[in-house]
Amino acid sequence: MLIRNATLPDGRSGIDLLVQDGRIAAVGPQLPAPEGVQAIDAGGWLLSPPFVDAHFHMDSTLSHGLPRVNASGTLLEGIALWGELKPLLTPEAIAERALQYCDWAVARGLLAIRTHVDVCDDRLLAVRALLQVREQVRPYLDLQLVAFPQDGLLRAPNALANLRRALDLGVDVVGGIPHFERTMAQGAESVQILCELAAERGLRVDMHCDETDDPLSRHIETLAFHTQRLGLHGRVTGSHCTSMHAMDNYFVSKLLPLIAEAGVHVVANPLINITLQGRHDTYPKRRGMTRVPELLAAGVNVGFGHDCVMDPWYALGSADMLDVAAMGLHVAQMTSAAAMRQCFDAVTVHNARILGLEGYGLAPGCRADFVLLQARDPVEAIRLRAQRLLVVRGGAVLARAAPLHSSLHLPGRPAGVDFTRQR
Ligand code: FE2
Repeated sequence: MLIRNATLPDGRSGIDLLVQDGRIAAVGPQLPAPEGVQAIDAGGWLLSPPFVDAHFHMDSTLSHGLPRVNASGTLLEGIALWGELKPLLTPEAIAERALQYCDWAVARGLLAIRTHVDVCDDRLLAVRALLQVREQVRPYLDLQLVAFPQDGLLRAPNALANLRRALDLGVDVVGGIPHFERTMAQGAESVQILCELAAERGLRVDMHCDETDDPLSRHIETLAFHTQRLGLHGRVTGSHCTSMHAMDNYFVSKLLPLIAEAGVHVVANPLINITLQGRHDTYPKRRGMTRVPELLAAGVNVGFGHDCVMDPWYALGSADMLDVAAMGLHVAQMTSAAAMRQCFDAVTVHNARILGLEGYGLAPGCRADFVLLQARDPVEAIRLRAQRLLVVRGGAVLARAAPLHSSLHLPGRPAGVDFTRQR
């Protein structure tokens, strides 16, 4: 495969990209076409590495309305509702919904997803279903599973034993939820147990960490401490970290360098954080997303996750990581040209780093995975939630879409618009 005349996220335009044996063989202007190679005209549109979601819940996705709708819209009612749904789940239904979501993801150019999977069900139904889905989608989508003790590692009976069983079955990453344990002390204890378990087994860690408005929920500090102590640098992620929004500024000034020093990644989930947090506030109402620009400035790798799509916590979504980037940009007020670009990176390269994806990118030698967007640059892609014209994995086309175009019938005006900026 030879892609002609693409624009890259770094701004280079008129670029060709040659694919051989599923890898990118060459990148540059006007590459000679090897004999028999089919050329695809990118038309100057933006060619990006695929979108990556660093935080998702695939065991609950597309279950919205089962067995009822979340009336208050709060995190805690969502957790209670998930508890009502769990006994009704079947492995077939979980797998079917997950596969449907993966179809949506591929069409959106989203080719790698880290999903948490609840291990607090003694039958481990969701774990087994998603392990099977992981194998089934492997040819076209990287699915990474996190063993997630939704009801608390120490608070829920059997959670630690079930989490170990899930890892034995092949779940990839160690999860946790320290702010949901019975006390702060037990939350800290759960962080220690889980980090030691990951170190023992050579696994990565990704915890729901301080997903609360309580400024004294400081488990991210403990997570950074044990990451440092156990030498887990670069392999640990704190997800949500919403309490940081409400923390004392002096404490945060001490905390940020500790997170950076430990090489702990942070994932914000803008769509969910802006809807679930601040629910106990009257006015002024806190936004509740973690401190994204400040973490980035401190040298921390920050990714954005979708978290939920049509489940007990969130009724909307369609696997569109540009929607996630747009919300993150707005909530964090990241409106400078450089900051808007960082929001695109947050759903591509930053998330790829969190998952530890091998061969990710558009350099020679990388896997030939990419998405052609109907936009001229990353900021335009966010602004338009740009159409995914072409989605490629290992040099094979997985999805195509026609360019978005509206015809107009206006006197003295052009015959149509596509919402991109006039060149
Ligand atoms: Fe989550």
